Amino acid sequence: METIFGEGAVLVDDLLLLRRARSRLRGTFGLVPTMGALHEGHLSLVRKARTECDHVGVSIFINPTQFGPKEDFARYPRDLKRDLQLLEPLGVDLVWTPAPEKVYDREFQTWVTVEGITAPLEGKMRPGHFRGVTTIVAKLFNAFTPAKAYFGQKDAQQVAVIRRMVKDLSFPVEISVCPTVREPDGLAMSSRNIRLDSRERGVATVLFRALSAAKSLYLDGERDAKRLRSAMLRVLDEESLAQTDYVSAADPDTMRELDQVTDRVLLSLAARIGKTRLIDNFLLP
Ligand code: PAJ
Repeated sequence: METIFGEGAVLVDDLLLLRRARSRLRGTFGLVPTMGALHEGHLSLVRKARTECDHVGVSIFINPTQFGPKEDFARYPRDLKRDLQLLEPLGVDLVWTPAPEKVYDREFQTWVTVEGITAPLEGKMRPGHFRGVTTIVAKLFNAFTPAKAYFGQKDAQQVAVIRRMVKDLSFPVEISVCPTVREPDGLAMSSRNIRLDSRERGVATVLFRALSAAKSLYLDGERDAKRLRSAMLRVLDEESLAQTDYVSAADPDTMRELDQVTDRVLLSLAARIGKTRLIDNFLLP
């Protein structure tokens, strides 16, 4: 189905219609892949794409293959009507909302797997997650043929994995990374935040507080990565409602844990607050 919304934006659910609509657009094309439940973080990517590209496409697809069997695929927030209302004023040309069975048919058996860099951190906690991400992103690149694609620094390992895939498979796509958009109290915006009750919402700032503690040590000259990790862990441990999955001070390109910080360092962490799992990171300097 093809529908027009806003001022001439085209909404399609079918791949052939997407290709047809895409082929009508001349000039540079920027893609913003999302899973919907849009917030200011997503919209910042769309705005950046809008300033840099002649045309902008957004995909809204809750990709089942990047969720583990015990993860929150079924509970993931969905509100297409609201998403389209948010996109309408931003001047998006094309929105693709495919049905899962059209993206992955019953005989589906081809995967894009990035190796080493997906092993630690999110990859370790969420086996198969990055295989799902890289497979859908490769399919999105094939469907939209963008010149540029926009991702958030919020998902730092995802950025590193996609950069690796683009390089290794020679996708003719430039990856643009946008800063993490935060609530006034520091909590990184996430589609999952709406699932926090008011007590959990208060506790959730612990991720930002832990990162900030390590950052201030770094700014005081601390370069021992172990001490930076300990500083984050201390703050997390003070919150009994937060269960830490990991803290990390790693090389932002390879995701390997550092001993000494000599160049850039990616401080990252993951914690569960009630049933909601949150991640955040700071890239320093
Ligand atoms: P989703 O979580 O919907 O995020 C879509 C994009 O928005 C990602 O690039 C993510 O890093 C970015 N983003 C999310 N929160 C942000 C924030 N607070 N500030 C800045 N950017 C933010 O990430 C995915 O979907 C999926 O894995 C996807 C790439 C779409 C593949 O299915």
